[in-house]
This record gives sequence, C-alpha cells and structure tokens, in this order.
Amino acid sequence: MSEIRLTVNGRAHTLDLDPTTPLLYVLSDELGLNGPKFGCGLGQCGACTAIVGGKALRSCVTPVATVNGADIMTLEGLGNVEHPHPIQQAFIDEQAAQCGFCLNGVILTAKAFLDQNPKASDAQIEQAMSSVLCRCFTHTRMFRAIKRYARLRSPQKQASSGAARRSRRGQAAKGVPA
Ligand code: FES
Ligand code: FES
Repeated sequence: MSEIRLTVNGRAHTLDLDPTTPLLYVLSDELGLNGPKFGCGLGQCGACTAIVGGKALRSCVTPVATVNGADIMTLEGLGNVEHPHPIQQAFIDEQAAQCGFCLNGVILTAKAFLDQNPKASDAQIEQAMSSVLCRCFTHTRMFRAIKRYARLRSPQKQASSGAARRSRRGQAAKGVPA
C-alpha cells in the first residue's frame, strides 16, 4: 500500500492504496464519483476519461501511482444541473445524447482538446474525437454541440463562420450555386 495524494475537482484527498489500482476505480469506488464510466477497461473507448494536468487521460488503464499529486477533473467538476458548464449547455441545446454512457468521455475529451487547441478547425475537432466511442451513434449531434461550444469560445471562429454563412447566403441570393 502507498500514500497517494490527489486533488479531484478542487478537493484534496490523501488515500492509502495499492499503487497499481486503476485511477478509474479510485475515482468511482473510493471517491464515489459517477462521471467516469467503465466501458471497455482497455483504454479503447474513452468512457473513463478524466482530465489530468489539462490532458484527457483514460483512467481505466492509468495506475493511480502514476498520477500521484495530480490535479484531476471529472465530469462532476465541470458544472451541475443548475449551473451547467457552457460545453454541457451546448450538449443540452443540441440534444446530443441518448443513453449518456459515453458523455463523460466525449465532453471531457472535447474540453481538454479545445483548451489546448482553441483555434482548431472542424476537421481537427473530428479527428481529436475519433477515438471516443458512442454506441448510440449520436456522433452527428455531438459534433454539432462541440462545434457550437468551440464557436462560443473563439469569437474569431464565430466571426469567420458567420462571414462564411453570410457569403453563402449572398451567393444563394444571387443565384450562384454553393
Ligand atoms: S473504459 Fe477506459 S477506455 Fe474504455
Ligand atoms: S449516448 Fe449512448 S453511448 Fe453515447
């Protein structure tokens, strides 16, 4: 057993654990967090994602000792029903969930990526999200929600996509095919 110190969603914890315990089990079993989910348990689906030191990390394959001392965020650290984070609000606005099992991984992966790449193109966002799986196949709505949030964060992107829309409308009004 080893003493492990973690700060999770702003709260400091000191735990006595087998250092090989997957971070996912610590978050769910020791700290009672419901955001990170057990999907594949093999690092392949993304359901267990947590943001560690600003990066999306698959907690099912992360021994807790490797993140000793880290600052960790789970879905619970983003927002709540009364005060959703803007990315959560974008998912609500786009009705971008069915069962919701994958949402922890989708939302945290998108947030970590956009925090580090605020000017990412739509294609780059889709590439970054390609390894997070949704068995309900709601990817189209999820991309809409992520792109909506990306535009909110980046007024420049909003202006350029607005200009592109106005240009397309102008061309349509002139009878120019898109
Ligand atoms: S449960 Fe961790 S990647 Fe699937
Ligand atoms: S909404 Fe069901 S797995 Fe994604």
